[in-house]
Amino acid sequence: MTEQELLEKYPALSRVEKRPLGSFRGINSFVLRGQKLKDYQIKAVEEHLNDYAVFFNDGYVSFEQIFGNSNPVVIEIGFGMGEATLQIAKDNPDINYLAIEVFLYGFTKLLSNIAASGVKNLKIMRFDAHDVLSSMIPDSSVQGFHIFFPDPWPKKRHNRRRLINNEFATVLASKLVPGGYIYCATDWEEYAQQMVDVFAGIPGLSNPYNGFADKVSWRPSTGFEKKGLDADRVIREVWVEKVEL
Ligand SMILES: C[S@@+](CC[C@H](N)C(=O)[O-])C[C@H]1O[C@@H](n2cnc3c(N)ncnc32)[C@H](O)[C@@H]1O
Repeated sequence: MTEQELLEKYPALSRVEKRPLGSFRGINSFVLRGQKLKDYQIKAVEEHLNDYAVFFNDGYVSFEQIFGNSNPVVIEIGFGMGEATLQIAKDNPDINYLAIEVFLYGFTKLLSNIAASGVKNLKIMRFDAHDVLSSMIPDSSVQGFHIFFPDPWPKKRHNRRRLINNEFATVLASKLVPGGYIYCATDWEEYAQQMVDVFAGIPGLSNPYNGFADKVSWRPSTGFEKKGLDADRVIREVWVEKVEL
């Protein structure tokens, strides 16, 4: 089965944005890359999609319904191939993880790996995180956000595509519970500084490090981190917390 045939069979997977087809396309933080799916990825969709996927819905979710318990929820945005995602979920069974990625190849790969591992505290979505947060996630409901190696969009004319900007940081802050956190890592120095500066301007967010953070021991490495290290770039960690105003 080709990717096209798969998407026709599972229409819930085929749309990644809320905007109606044919309507004006805003500035996206991603470009959809097609990569031929392997048989095991197609099989994972056929056998496990409904077990581990959450679909876009224009209404607030009940995390308790999704996960079957009231444990804290951490949302990861842009999980790529999901290597760090699955490891963190395995290591922290008392935290629920909702991981969001538009890249179908990575989504189906993680779907297959979740099914093989049997973890119960990880669900995944193939949708634009902007739409997911604004339409589905209640305010003051999220314990943490993980954003590891977001696309750096290094060219000046592309900077406005960066995920971390004033508008999105405001949304992230509004979704956090008091004491919740946003944890980002990047190998792009100037974007790392942008993150620190953007978060510093958001009421209710506080940076306990007054700059870049230390790496936490529980963040596994990812493919994109390796690429950065191979290119001799420094990895920067940014950690901010939600405080009561
Ligand atoms: C550079 S990759 C990093 C992947 C992974 N976190 C890692 O460290 O290997 C960034 C990922 O973010 C995803 N992404 C970018 N904007 C997104 C959005 N608005 N919603 C969901 N995923 C997004 C892209 O598809 C891409 O796979």
